Amino acid sequence: MPARIAVLASGGGTNLQALLDVPDAPYDVVGVLSDNAEAHALVRAQQHGITTEVVSPRDDLDRGGWDARVAEVLTGWRPDWVVCAGFMRVLGSHVLEAFPSRIVNTHPALLPSFPGAHGVRDALDYGVRITGCTVHLVDAGVDTGPILDQRAVAVLPQDDEESLHERIKVEERAMLVDIVLQLCAHGCSVDGRKVTIP
Ligand code: GRF
Repeated sequence: MPARIAVLASGGGTNLQALLDVPDAPYDVVGVLSDNAEAHALVRAQQHGITTEVVSPRDDLDRGGWDARVAEVLTGWRPDWVVCAGFMRVLGSHVLEAFPSRIVNTHPALLPSFPGAHGVRDALDYGVRITGCTVHLVDAGVDTGPILDQRAVAVLPQDDEESLHERIKVEERAMLVDIVLQLCAHGCSVDGRKVTIP
């Protein structure tokens, strides 16, 4: 039976696309959830006939209510793995408790350096010569969960945020697909900050 994967995405969805483009994938993307009704990731999902859902932050929904609704939608999709692929909101206890050690996030910097929403810009502003990307399990912090894999990307003298991010994303997509394939095949075990894929 193929593994069931739910994807959370807020933006363009090229990481989602990379997951969808794997030939003979040993998983099905069973749903794509966004906090942003305009996310192109939703269009990509619909083009593949995948169920989509938007859970926007709204005035009548506090943070806990938003998180509970996300947990409800995801639970209905019965995913083996939840993949945050450019999802720009922090998940809360409802979602985390529903999928312990089964939520993966991709981040465009070498954590623990430059967490948060502006990892590429922050690395560039700091003046690092090497940055990159990280795939990690999600915990209650912002980009703090145990690390599954990382890839390095050199910063070039002429780089701006966009050019650097594009080169990072090439590595990020390949790494995310690789880790998701490994997780689907073998699962993982977590001991403190150390994750092992057997
Ligand atoms: C990725 O670099 C992700 O790590 C970051 O935003 C980007 C999303 O890209 N948070 P896409 O929407 O998958 O194209």
